[in-house]
Amino acid sequence: MTSTIQQQHSPTELFAHALRYENRADPYPAYEQLLQQPVVQMADGSWLATGHREISLLLRDPRISADRLNPQQQPIRKSLLMEDPPRHDQLRQAVTQQFIPRIMGMRDHIDALVTELLDAHTSEQPGQLDVVADLAYPLPVTVICELLGVPREDERLFGSLARRLTRGLDPVDTQTEKEIHELQQARAELVEYLEGLIARHNADGGSDLLAGLMNGQSPDGPMDAIDLRVTLGLLLIAGHETTVNLIANGTLALLRHPDLLARLRTDPDLATPLVEEVLRYDPPVQMSGRSALADIDIAGTTIPKGSRIRLLLASGNRDPRRFTDPDRFLPDRADNAHLGFGGGIHYCIGATLARAEAQIALTALARRLDSPRLAADPPPYRENAILRGPERLPVTFERLLRDPRGK
Ligand code: HEM
Repeated sequence: MTSTIQQQHSPTELFAHALRYENRADPYPAYEQLLQQPVVQMADGSWLATGHREISLLLRDPRISADRLNPQQQPIRKSLLMEDPPRHDQLRQAVTQQFIPRIMGMRDHIDALVTELLDAHTSEQPGQLDVVADLAYPLPVTVICELLGVPREDERLFGSLARRLTRGLDPVDTQTEKEIHELQQARAELVEYLEGLIARHNADGGSDLLAGLMNGQSPDGPMDAIDLRVTLGLLLIAGHETTVNLIANGTLALLRHPDLLARLRTDPDLATPLVEEVLRYDPPVQMSGRSALADIDIAGTTIPKGSRIRLLLASGNRDPRRFTDPDRFLPDRADNAHLGFGGGIHYCIGATLARAEAQIALTALARRLDSPRLAADPPPYRENAILRGPERLPVTFERLLRDPRGK
């Protein structure tokens, strides 16, 4: 199929088209076609939900399991992301109890980190930033490592692991033999790394999240060693591989809409609706997965028990039945119930943190870069289809202004 999408293509072909690397910069025209059938069966027997209403219903349906893995993929222990109640709820409670209090009051610290990252470029006039490598990646990584108690020197090792592991989220038929092999190796390395980290960690002395989970204040007691390792791995990967795309996709949207960039420079209140609109218009997590525990009647069809279901969050966010002008980037839209953080019982635990990081980073970029321009539009994209975002985002500027607040 060429990049022109024709109506007569089957949903399976359209979906494959959207996933193909050459369409990574803009899968949205294929999603638009897929939206004509909000729930549809694919050639491999699995189901694809693309409509906002249908995805929202499925995310909240107790007859749906979060376990999206094939029987041959099943790990020794699933993370809370793939677990169902009651185990999901116990694990989630143990994490939120430790996570939420630690992220409260973090905005000043995030702000200071952003200032520090940008200040590294003050001597360049005119200069160039790679917004991914210089800001969007190091910011959330530093924050999550600090929160969890992961030593900064381990970051390099962990970063490469996270990258290989998240490629494993993409449909298997889009991965090469080499990538599949690398994935297995990365999984083994992750287990070894996390076990070492937990063993080295002083459970009694530290006040970080890992220490909190090890000491286990929750009603269900401390997590056992395997749950601890699996949960830590989930949080570290989520902290590494998602917010980076939110900041990069947000920068891209801002630089493509100079009027909004100019507004954000003087109106910090724009940051909140702006980031929500990025989460709708160009979401960092494009898709999620589920399986059916019973026959489910939806959108005039029946998803049979046992089926695997893909929820295309990014197409739901562009559903014209739900949003007016879905393909326009409009932070001022009054109603923005996007699916960027999922929904229902698996709604993203890191949403507040990710929002804060993106709001602060985008506001700082708008304020401090004099005449920023994209050096490449579209920028080169990462291989990943599900955790989708630019690989690099080179931005040129005339000057890097001092922080106007004198910080
Ligand atoms: C822009 C950044 C982020 C986006 C777009 C995002 C998106 C999502 C989405 C869509 C889900 C639901 C998945 C599903 O239903 O299958 C989810 C769940 C989750 N996210 Fe995030 N996430 C982000 C950042 C973070 C961060 C920074 C953390 C923590 C460090 C985090 C931790 C989690 C966890 C633990 C879950 C599983 C919750 C559950 O199963 O109950 N996320 N995230």
